[in-house]
Amino acid sequence: MEDVETLRADVLAAIAAAGDLDGLEQARVAALGRKGRITELMKGLGAMAPEQRKTAGRALNVLKDEVANAIEARRAALADADLDSRLDEERIDVTLPTRPQPEGRIHPISQTTDEIVAIFGEMGFTVAEGPDIEDDWHNFTALNIPPDHPARQEHDTFYLHGSGTSGHADDDRPVLRTHTSPVQIHVMERTPPPLRIIVPGRAYRCDYDATHTPMFHQVEGLVVDESTHMGHLKGCLTDFCRAYFDVDDLPVRFRPSYFPFTEPSAEMDIGCTREGGKFRIGHGDDWMEILGCGMVNPKVLENCGIDPERYQGFAFGMGIERIAMLKYGIPDLRTFFESDLRWLRHYGFPALQVPSLVGGLDP
Ligand code: DAH
Repeated sequence: MEDVETLRADVLAAIAAAGDLDGLEQARVAALGRKGRITELMKGLGAMAPEQRKTAGRALNVLKDEVANAIEARRAALADADLDSRLDEERIDVTLPTRPQPEGRIHPISQTTDEIVAIFGEMGFTVAEGPDIEDDWHNFTALNIPPDHPARQEHDTFYLHGSGTSGHADDDRPVLRTHTSPVQIHVMERTPPPLRIIVPGRAYRCDYDATHTPMFHQVEGLVVDESTHMGHLKGCLTDFCRAYFDVDDLPVRFRPSYFPFTEPSAEMDIGCTREGGKFRIGHGDDWMEILGCGMVNPKVLENCGIDPERYQGFAFGMGIERIAMLKYGIPDLRTFFESDLRWLRHYGFPALQVPSLVGGLDP
């Protein structure tokens, strides 16, 4: 039995000394393999007297179990150590920029639209959409722009061939919508108030110079409820401009103006400084027009089947390119649509930084 004690000490020492999984396997084979020391002793049991065989057999079985457990424990410890060292070696800095460098850039129109949606989304507005091809009713008449109204000429409308489908129209030709305001009509026709929507989208006018392109983008806003008033309009748009331009106390003013679909109507200006051709949004002695707005004309509500005695609301519309140019210092509107990759690399935005009020609007 002394043999077994020495053997036990030897084998356990060999297991403990195994520095890796290969070494451990060698220790296992040396003890429990076909020619291992424990196996050899077991083979010798057959030659023993029954009484002796019983005691020795039991002792050897206990030893075998003990060794098997020790091997398992050592194997687990080695595997842990192995994992730890790999984790240590393969450490990566997740704050490093991705490789290869991302190539694509987000167009300033998409970026600005996302910023607008993020700000109004926080105020409880949802995004609505409507068709680019409109009928006369939605683009003009329902917005209180009757057939002979001068605003129709000012809109430089693209007329299409064919005939409209509204059944309302005096002029039956479909048009490329000249503004996003017709979506106000679509929404009010199908959804009962209260309403709180913004409508980013394309608009079309036959015009082309440094500040006009035949296709451009606007965002329309519409709020209709039972007690909405001019104070809500002013607060909402002031908050928007301050968040969008990231100037907490940006000066704003509302000038009386005229739009057929609002009464009263106003234009909103924001403070800026102008030096030569350059300007800076913020405090200064100059003003920059930024959007048109007003209280929804009761006739427009009526045209959509909404009772103007019970409901009132405000609306606004602004050019997305215009506010993108102001914020990001882009001098020429036409460059937005030239698909010049150098321009996009310069004025575009990284794809993974989605604008949000929490994350910050400026990437
Ligand atoms: N639709 C007008 C335009 O093109 C912009 C506008 C002004 C929209 C006042 C409005 C508003 O909703 O209230 O140019």
